[in-house]
Amino acid sequence: MMEDLSLHVLDIVENAVAAGATRVRISVNENAARDVLVLRVTDNGRGMSAREQARALDPFFTTGRKRTGLGLPLLAHTAEICGGRLTIASGPGRGTSVAARLPLSHVDRPPLTKMAETLMTLFFGHPETDFLYRHTRNGSLFICLRSGRKGGGTAPREIIALRKRLRRGLDRIGAS
Ligand SMILES: Nc1ncnc2c1ncn2[C@@H]1O[C@H](COP(=O)(O)OP(=O)(O)OP(=O)(O)O)[C@@H](O)[C@H]1O
Ligand SMILES: [Mg+2]
Repeated sequence: MMEDLSLHVLDIVENAVAAGATRVRISVNENAARDVLVLRVTDNGRGMSAREQARALDPFFTTGRKRTGLGLPLLAHTAEICGGRLTIASGPGRGTSVAARLPLSHVDRPPLTKMAETLMTLFFGHPETDFLYRHTRNGSLFICLRSGRKGGGTAPREIIALRKRLRRGLDRIGAS
């Protein structure tokens, strides 16, 4: 089991990028009244057939050469041990949406933690990808849009500014 959900986010978003996505939407929705945390990653990559979706949940199934095939099964496991579940909506050429729904207050629910660091890793690891991060926490909303650009190249001051924006935004909604 991974000790925080942000590591799962990292893995699921890497899947999207590996599937050729140019746009990735990451959303986190924490709702204490409904006792639920929903994590969703939606991409415009190549998508999967129904058969591929079923196989993707088998441990060690992978279409990547240097990968292990544990990303999705691990997140499914994390969701299931606390009474939640993972769902995949996808179709060839239609992109993919992976959603994990977890009971917010369950003792075995891993914390999000390190979300700002995870987003920095993703944004700067994939400078040409468009990212939309949307985090709702009990009615408070933080949105961060990062447009990808050709060539990548990011100045240190932009990195610092983005990290500040992420930290402040997550702090403001009490999600850091
Ligand atoms: N967003 C996606 N779009 C298209 N195919 C996907 C997507 N996510 C997963 N898959 C398919 O499901 C397989 C399994 O994904 P999973 O994350 O479990 O393992 P992996 O990425 O291959 O390896 P690991 O995550 O351990 O490095 C992938 O190899 C890929 O074929
Ligand atoms: Mg993976």
